[in-house]
Amino acid sequence: MSHSERLPRIRTYLMCPPEHFTVEYAINPWMDTEVAVDADLALKQWDTLRNTLVDLGHLVHVLDARPGLPDMVYSANGAFSVDGTVYGARFKYPQRADEAAAHRAFYESPWRYHAPIQVNEGEGDFAYLPGAYGGIVLAGYGFRTDPAAHAEAQEVLGRPVISLKLVDPAFYHLDTALAALDDRHVTYYPGAFSPASQRVLAQLFPDALLADREDAEAFGLNLVSDGRHVILNTEAAGMGRKVRDAGYLPIHVNLSELKRGGGSVKCAVAELRA
Ligand code: ARG
Repeated sequence: MSHSERLPRIRTYLMCPPEHFTVEYAINPWMDTEVAVDADLALKQWDTLRNTLVDLGHLVHVLDARPGLPDMVYSANGAFSVDGTVYGARFKYPQRADEAAAHRAFYESPWRYHAPIQVNEGEGDFAYLPGAYGGIVLAGYGFRTDPAAHAEAQEVLGRPVISLKLVDPAFYHLDTALAALDDRHVTYYPGAFSPASQRVLAQLFPDALLADREDAEAFGLNLVSDGRHVILNTEAAGMGRKVRDAGYLPIHVNLSELKRGGGSVKCAVAELRA
C-alpha cells in the first residue's frame, strides 16, 4: 500500500496537563517513587504533544488538572466513547478514583454518559475499530479492568466487545500492548496476551502489524494515529520504522517524564468519538 492511500481523519481529543503530575505511589511496574519527576519538562513535553495534534488539524479539548490527582495527565483512562455514547470509568486503585468524576463533568449534552458499575479504566483497556466487522471494541483485562466491564460496555455501546487477556504486568493496560492504526488495522505485541487471546487476535486481524517486546517496552504501542500520522514517543524508533514501512507517517515526540508514571502518548490522549 502506498503512503497516499493512508488517509487521515480529523479527530477530537481530550488531554489534561501534567500540572500536578508526580510519582508518589506505585501502581504499575514502571513507577518508581524514589526518582523525582521533572515537572517543568513534563509540562513542556505535554505541550509539544498537544501542539503536534493541533498542527495536524485535530481538535484538542483540555480538562483542568486537579491537585491530589497526579495521574490525571493520563486522560485516556477517564472514559471510553463510541458514536456519542460514553461509557464512564471506574478506577481500580483508590488513588485514581476521583478522576472519574472529573471526566464525567466534562461530558455534557449531546454526549450520553453512562456511569459504570464495573471497574474499568476507559481507553486504557478499550479500543474501537469502526471499520472492522462493522465496528468492534477490543477490551483488555487481567490487571485493571474487570472482565465484567466488557459485558457492561457491550450493553451500553451496542457493539461487539472482544475480551483479550493481558498476562505481562509491564503491559497492564490494553493500550500498552495494542493500538488501532486506522479504522480497521491494528498493531500489537503478541507476548502481552495469553496464548488463546493471541489466537483470537490472529483470527480477527491476520494482517496486523506485529511488534516485539523491545517495541512494547519503549511504549511504541502506546501510540495515537489519525489513520496516516502515527504519533509515538522518541524512544520507539524501531516501531517508527515499522509503521513507516507499513505506509504510515511516524511523528516522534519526547515523553520521557510521562514514562515515569507508566504511560506515553496514547495514555495522555483520549479520543472522543461523537
Ligand atoms: N500511573 C498510571 C496508572 O498506573 C498510568 C496510566 C497509563 N495510562 C494508560 N492509558 N495506559 O494507572
